[in-house]
Amino acid sequence: MKILIINGPNLNLLGKREKEIYGTMSYEDMCAYLQEKAAELSVHLDIFQSNLEGEIVDRIQAAYGQYEGLIINPGAYTHYSIAIYDALLAVNIPTIEVHLSNIYKREEFRHKSVTAAACLGQICGLGAYGYVLAMQALLNYQAANREG
Ligand code: DQA
Repeated sequence: MKILIINGPNLNLLGKREKEIYGTMSYEDMCAYLQEKAAELSVHLDIFQSNLEGEIVDRIQAAYGQYEGLIINPGAYTHYSIAIYDALLAVNIPTIEVHLSNIYKREEFRHKSVTAAACLGQICGLGAYGYVLAMQALLNYQAANREG
């Protein structure tokens, strides 16, 4: 299965930003950990990060016909990007939204996700392991929805 992870703004600063919330693992180390887990699951994994909304929309559009599953952590765009929500609806690729932190335990403006309604489901509060669970969920979804 081919899966693309899309990470939004400031996720490239993992390991440096708000360590008490996001932990000490660097973005590069997290990507290496996820590639290891993907190999164990026989998933072909690509990982993309951008701080720009338009680049994220472009990457979602380019995923059409190329990936069987998406995992997206839109960062702060989660809470207000109708453009990312629309792009996810447009490509109609099974998508899981992931957040490292438990957004429901934090400031009220983080409690609302506008992008989650375009996704199969949302995983939050479990750190990098949430992406691993999302890969497993996409594999399970694909197996359940395969024809025959
Ligand atoms: C985040 C939560 C968002 O509210 C925040 O803006 C982020 C990271 C998370 O992974 O917990 O940048 O998406």
